[in-house]
Amino acid sequence: MSTVFLNDAFMPITEAKISPMDRGFLFGDGIYEVIPSYDGKLVGFGPHIERMRSGLAALEIPLDWEPARWLLLCQQLIEKNGRGNLGIYLHVSRGADSKRFHAYPEGVKPTVFAYTFAINPPPPADKDKVQGFKVSTARDLRWQRCNIKSTALLGNVMHFQQGYAAGHNEIILYNARNEMTEGSSCNAYIVKHGTVITPPLDHQLLPGITRLILLDILRKDGTIPVEERTVTMDEVFDADEVWLTSSSKEIAPVIEIDGKPVADGKPGDVWLAAQTLFSANKYNY
Ligand code: PDD
Repeated sequence: MSTVFLNDAFMPITEAKISPMDRGFLFGDGIYEVIPSYDGKLVGFGPHIERMRSGLAALEIPLDWEPARWLLLCQQLIEKNGRGNLGIYLHVSRGADSKRFHAYPEGVKPTVFAYTFAINPPPPADKDKVQGFKVSTARDLRWQRCNIKSTALLGNVMHFQQGYAAGHNEIILYNARNEMTEGSSCNAYIVKHGTVITPPLDHQLLPGITRLILLDILRKDGTIPVEERTVTMDEVFDADEVWLTSSSKEIAPVIEIDGKPVADGKPGDVWLAAQTLFSANKYNY
């Protein structure tokens, strides 16, 4: 049975209990992270914790854990739950107040919850072995502060379900100007004439750590050009390749969108080169 961390203690998952007055439960008032770990090695620990700390500051949740404290927690969870392919889930809510009142309460201790779950092995940089993703598309109806990794994920959940019900692995979202924003749980990219193109960071999408690592690896390598700019859905449907990234997927090649194949319906050459570079360099972050 998995061992989880809740507030100041480790315990079996069945013993972990949270008050119904917790603002995470009542308002989705919290921040979370998912950090991948393969055989005890974390990918992107530094930037994940930096994003968590900036989200806590943006929401004025008073939890002042240093990165070393978070690292200790991650290491303890891996020790207690075994190595292997793990997602380490870290969750901080504003905590349990005595009343339900929208304004941020004073003097309430944040709730810290963390556990591990099994994730798929990283994708092999091999066109014949990688799983190609089939996706849907939808007008992005989530809230307008998607840059904060808030636990208020109902908009994301509803969009994901829309794709899932159609038998798809993900859904690509677009705004009122028909511009791609991101997936319901991942960042999105197109490849055109050998250039990797992804929307710039703003309030419409999460600053993904896999995105950060991938763009840095590609820029340092220098053989595949990268552009951060607006991408229209017409460009998505006309792309040579489409990709998704997240901590639990690394780079997923999209092979079908709304029932239509992306180019020849197979993972592309630029994906292969990028996933090969990512596999070789990801532990440097
Ligand atoms: N989701 N965009 C959204 C809306 C996400 O939920 C995620 C990650 C990403 C990619 O971020 P990163 O590369 O830092 O994982 C982009 C996590 C994995 C989840 O909710 O399980």
